[in-house]
Amino acid sequence: MQDIFYIYNMLSLCWPQDLSGIVDISGSKNAALPLIACGLFFEQFTLHNVPRIGDVMTFLEIISSLGVDVSFIGNTLTLDTTNMSIENLDTELVKKIRVGIFLFPALLKRFHTLTLPFPWGCNIGKRPIDEHIRGFEAFGYINEWSDDMLQFSGNYNTNDVRISAGFAVTATENMLMIAAFRSGRTTIELAAIEPHVMNLVEFLRSLDIVITVSHDHMMIIDGIKYPPKRAETSVIHDYIESGTFLVLGALTAMPSVEIKNARINDLRFFLSKCREAGVRFDLNEQTDTITVYNSRSSLRAVNFQTNIYPGFPTDLQSPFSLLLTQAEWVSRVHEVLFEWRLNWLVEIEKMKWHIAIMNPHEALIFGKTHLKWSTVSSWDLRAGVTMILAGMIARGETTITNVEYIDRGYEGILGKIAKLGGKIEVI
Ligand code: EPU
Repeated sequence: MQDIFYIYNMLSLCWPQDLSGIVDISGSKNAALPLIACGLFFEQFTLHNVPRIGDVMTFLEIISSLGVDVSFIGNTLTLDTTNMSIENLDTELVKKIRVGIFLFPALLKRFHTLTLPFPWGCNIGKRPIDEHIRGFEAFGYINEWSDDMLQFSGNYNTNDVRISAGFAVTATENMLMIAAFRSGRTTIELAAIEPHVMNLVEFLRSLDIVITVSHDHMMIIDGIKYPPKRAETSVIHDYIESGTFLVLGALTAMPSVEIKNARINDLRFFLSKCREAGVRFDLNEQTDTITVYNSRSSLRAVNFQTNIYPGFPTDLQSPFSLLLTQAEWVSRVHEVLFEWRLNWLVEIEKMKWHIAIMNPHEALIFGKTHLKWSTVSSWDLRAGVTMILAGMIARGETTITNVEYIDRGYEGILGKIAKLGGKIEVI
């Protein structure tokens, strides 16, 4: 199971770029990864609309090292776990991605013990896992730390369990997976309800697991003891990719870019901020299509704050910040969730963005700025794609290094931009 992703590590972009046409949004990374992990509960699992991106490929390599038979054709993935074992688990690969932590629910159920490298922080900040640890313990697993390793062992209990997920996305998903396949009622308070979490909820419901989700972020799960032998489902389209193309269209469309499978419903708050900022677009709810028009002359400064769903997604903070460099007057960004997620602004300042970083969570963006070419390094996945967008509106030739970050989360992004008429040279 191999795929070549990092065939390049630098991009070069020229100004000006006028984009038009249709872009099809791919499956969501953050929905696909927990669903793939959930697939390990079944003997046979089929998952459709899986994006062919770096993080998925790395996760599948890890899963192959468990002896799982992995077949990934087009965007359909099948797993056969008949010969699964933890003996040869590739822990070096697990260090590469944070989502190794998704392996705990299914592997603990099957093997009653699992040791993985501790998922420390990353470029966007400290990434605590206390909610995961408290959750695993509440289900009866015993936690042991040894150096840089995280170990759980034992059997899950069948008590009624009440836990808090602190609105954390991956922690909620892990708790859901354990709760789904044990008898006993689980109540998750402060559950995350991001669209990708709900993708997992809907899949589990399709297996007759009763899950109620209430407006106060409480989930009640009445699990089933034994998972069925086979299961099949689909990954939802990626609202983060859709929002990214909306920004790209607002800055470069000539006259318009049509975004298909846009997940309009998941983007409500983001779309209202875009309107407030003067972005011109039409929504077709029936076909789930957004048509975005060039909005460079109508952009206005706005203040925004990232939040848990349905608030403004932190994963769209960087592209929206770029949009605001082209708006008249001063905008304020308040990144609530991650303390280093504004650090990329230091890198992008090389392109003559006029920014003031007030503290780790707040920055001012002074518009309107004529961005200037530079060589910039991709800071993380979302900042990396924003650097592509910035290069498309910056005068002169922009070079972006470390672009392997971008391949981790956006399926065929360069091909999609090229189809819209964008010119990006791969070095
Ligand atoms: N938090 C805790 N304790 C925990 C877990 C999280 O305090 O045990 C805090 C974090 O410090 C942070 C907040 O809760 O302030 C949100 O963290 P969360 O756990 O929700 O993040 P995550 O589950 O690690 C997922 C996405 C991220 C996305 C965040 C927020 C996946 C695989 N990752 O991360 O996606 O930014 O939720 O929506 O779903 C990306 O795709 O680029 C990305 C980073």
